[in-house]
Amino acid sequence: MDTNNDLDALKTRLVADLDACEQAGGKGLDDLKVRYLGKKGEIYGLMRGMGALPADQRPAFGQRVNELRDLAEARFTALEERAAEAAIAAKLASSTLDVTLPGLGAELGHLHPLTIVREDTIDFFRGMGFELAEAREVDHEWYNFEALNIPPEHPARDMHDTFYVDDGIVLRTHTSNVQAHYLLNREQGPVRMLAPGCVYRVDNDASHAPMFQQVECLVIDEHISFANLKGTMLLWAEHVFGKGTRIRVRPSYFPFTEPSAEVDVSCSICGGTGCRLCKHTGWIEVGGCGSVDPAVFTQLGWDPERWTGFAFGFGIDRIALLKYGIPNIGLLTRNEVGFLKQF
Ligand code: DAH
Repeated sequence: MDTNNDLDALKTRLVADLDACEQAGGKGLDDLKVRYLGKKGEIYGLMRGMGALPADQRPAFGQRVNELRDLAEARFTALEERAAEAAIAAKLASSTLDVTLPGLGAELGHLHPLTIVREDTIDFFRGMGFELAEAREVDHEWYNFEALNIPPEHPARDMHDTFYVDDGIVLRTHTSNVQAHYLLNREQGPVRMLAPGCVYRVDNDASHAPMFQQVECLVIDEHISFANLKGTMLLWAEHVFGKGTRIRVRPSYFPFTEPSAEVDVSCSICGGTGCRLCKHTGWIEVGGCGSVDPAVFTQLGWDPERWTGFAFGFGIDRIALLKYGIPNIGLLTRNEVGFLKQF
C-alpha cells in the first residue's frame, strides 16, 4: 500500500468536500467533521496505517498527517464560526421588534380602605393643630382600666372582653390607654392629642373583629365644653363623609367621661332614609365620647378645678364600613385582592 498516495488522495477529497460544504452554506458540516476528524475518522485511520511503513519513513509521514489534521481543524473551525454567525443573523432577521408598540402597563396599587380613613382622619386633626400620640398595644392593665376610673371590680370591665397576656398585662381594649400615658407625662394643658392604633377584644362576628383600629381624641383646656366636642365631631364627620353629614349623640356611660355619649353618623349609603347597612335606622354608631371625668384628672395628677376636657374614641373599621358600604368587618383584614381592588 502506498500510504503517501492515500494521504494525497484524502487531502484532495477533504478540500473538495469542505469547499462543497462551504458553497452549501455549511450544510452537513457536522457529519463531515465526524467523517474526517472523528475518533474513527479518516485522518486518524491514516495514522493507524502508519505501522505498515518502513520505520525510517514514519516520522516524515507522521508530520504530513499532522499538517493535514491542522489544516482540517482550521477549516472546520472557520466554517463553524461562519455557520454560527449566519444563525444569529437569520434569527435577528426573522424576529422584528416594533418599538412603537404600547408597553405592558404596570398595575398601580392603592391604599387599603382602613389606611385611607385613618390617614384622612389624621390629616384633618393635624390641620387643626393636634399632636399625634401613641402607647403600647401590650400594656399594664392599670393604664387600660384603673387610670381611666375603671377599678378591678367595675362592671365596665366585663364590656371589654379582655385578652390577658400575663398577670396584670393585657392587649389594650381601647386606645383610651393613650390618654393615661399622655397625661401622666405632662403637667398641664392645653392638650390637643390624636392617637390612632390597633386594639383587641375577645369578639368575632359580622360587625366585631378580635383586632380592630380606633382613633382616640383628647382635648383639654380651661373652658372646654360639650359643645366643643359636638362641633369638633361634626366637622370631622363632614370631612370624612362629605358635606350634609349629620351626627347625633345619645346619652351613654363610660367611667372616664361625665357626661358620656355614644356618637352616631347619618348613614352615608342611604343618606339617612334607612337601608340594610344602617339596619333601617338611618344612623350608624361610630364610637363613644364625653367630657373628661374629674376622677381621671385627679388620678393622673391634673387639677380638676382648673382643667376641663373632652375625649372621643371612634372605630376606624366601622367608619370604613360606613364610608364604603362594606357589609362585613372581616373583609377588611382578609386581604382578598378582588375585594380590595374596589377601593
Ligand atoms: N374607649 C371607649 C371604647 O372603646 C370609647 C370611648 C368613649 C373613648 C368615650 C373615649 C371616650 O375617649 O371619651 O369603647
